[in-house]
Amino acid sequence: MSEKEKILVMRSITKTFPGVRALDEVDIHVDKGEIHFIVGENGAGKSTLMKVLSGIYPIGSYSGDIVFNGEIKHFNSIKDSVRNGIVIINQELALFPDLTVYENVYVGHEIANSRGVIDWIQTKKMAKKYLDMVGLDVEIERLVRTLGVGKQQLIEIAKALSQDVKLLILDEPTAALNENDSKNLLDLLVELKKKGITSIMISHKLREVEAIADSLTILRDGKVITRMLAEEINEFEIIKHMVGRQIDDIFPKRPIFKSGKIVLETIHFNAYDNNLNRYIVNDANIKLREGEVVGLAGLMGAGRTEFAHSIFGNIDKYKISGGVIVQGEHIKFHHPQSAIKHGIAYVSEDRKKDGLILGENIGQNICLASLNKISKRGILNFFKQSFFAKKYVKDLDIKTPSIYQQLKNLSGGNQQKVQVAKWLFSEPKILILDEPTRGIDVGAKYEIYTIINDLVAKGMSILIISSELPEILGMCDRIYVIAEGLQTAEFNIEDATAEKIMHKAALV
Ligand SMILES: Nc1ncnc2c1ncn2[C@@H]1O[C@H](COP(=O)(O)OP(=O)(O)OP(=O)(O)O)[C@@H](O)[C@H]1O
Ligand SMILES: [Mg+2]
Repeated sequence: MSEKEKILVMRSITKTFPGVRALDEVDIHVDKGEIHFIVGENGAGKSTLMKVLSGIYPIGSYSGDIVFNGEIKHFNSIKDSVRNGIVIINQELALFPDLTVYENVYVGHEIANSRGVIDWIQTKKMAKKYLDMVGLDVEIERLVRTLGVGKQQLIEIAKALSQDVKLLILDEPTAALNENDSKNLLDLLVELKKKGITSIMISHKLREVEAIADSLTILRDGKVITRMLAEEINEFEIIKHMVGRQIDDIFPKRPIFKSGKIVLETIHFNAYDNNLNRYIVNDANIKLREGEVVGLAGLMGAGRTEFAHSIFGNIDKYKISGGVIVQGEHIKFHHPQSAIKHGIAYVSEDRKKDGLILGENIGQNICLASLNKISKRGILNFFKQSFFAKKYVKDLDIKTPSIYQQLKNLSGGNQQKVQVAKWLFSEPKILILDEPTRGIDVGAKYEIYTIINDLVAKGMSILIISSELPEILGMCDRIYVIAEGLQTAEFNIEDATAEKIMHKAALV
């Protein structure tokens, strides 16, 4: 195929950061009207490549050529690439939460009448048209912050369509979506393809790659490893190229859980949300035993995270009732510090908000919750700090030039690994993991699961909240299903199937 029929060719793209060659002579090409995936381990250079393409990294900050629709182009800003029909949707969505749905579709490129005044009637009409196109059926006057992430993502795509997008770039769009919303999004991309819109998508969910990719490029350490076409694409082939070795079982084996004393129990436990004026946790009765891994399954917004927050003492917005028993002691935590003192740790699903300090380095972040282990009489032992930080950087394969790199310079998945490392290092009695492997590549997931297995073998108890059913089924001894704040089922792992869980999750 000649280059003319390709919508995009990126030639010999090289981009460096201090101490890091993020992209090393990368060549990719994408045919018109196809869905192309970029896959690779955390820190492989995927997001950087798309930032080069969309002008977030402007001319002069990288070398190499971009050929778009047969012409050599270099974009100087996002505005510049959008003008040319390239729209990037990042994982941190760029919507305005306090504007309405239709305002968000047109913000930044408002429809004006001949006198330069915004034509609201036309704006609403056109917004509706594009929202219909992406299959989003919501009141267009609604404020965006009242909608879930799945719907917000569709608004971003509607916005892209309203800007006459030719090449749509999605950086891990399904990472924060549940199975249903993910499926809708993938279906939509296939629909858009029929309309001639080309997409480039980054994802760690290899099953979805297998499902809809026409072609893909695998990156490792900033270099292209291989390009594959639809007929050759399957999950295990991708993993082999990505990780550089074979992984046969994504979930490392652990001896079957027998029994242990109860370390955490909630009894008729409720959390009432003062802002929403309703119960977000309603009569939760769960038990967690020593050495056990228990899963909380459910749809996004079912109240699992709120449940974790309310056990952990993060309760500013809530009125709590009912009992929590930790290692035989009735307790009410009013602040996370007191939960931590009682041996409970919580790995938040939102690492930006309450997990990490982006302006500090990796070593400091990993040791943040374990200062007692690396200091004596209030004096920090830097040797110990760097020893443990290096250990976790190695164990979890955190891609970085050194442990002194500031966290904000790490790729998304590597930031998540630091967050997990921080809490694993603190070795709590009870560890609550909220979407622990979101955005993490398959190889590193395996390493995290292995550490989890080691920890429970030593008697730690783990509560996992996850929207990925394979992870729940692959890692847990027992599973509770939550739907709209209510506990709708409990399964032992032998009896659990994806179908049964989904059925109970959608109940109420
Ligand atoms: N602003 C920056 N300063 C320094 N290094 C950076 C910066 N941005 C990215 N890097 C480094 O460049 C490399 C590639 O990062 P990139 O974000 O492209 O990875 P990725 O493939 O998108 O990974 P992930 O799957 O974790 O999102 C990483 O080693 C990262 O640490
Ligand atoms: Mg990335």
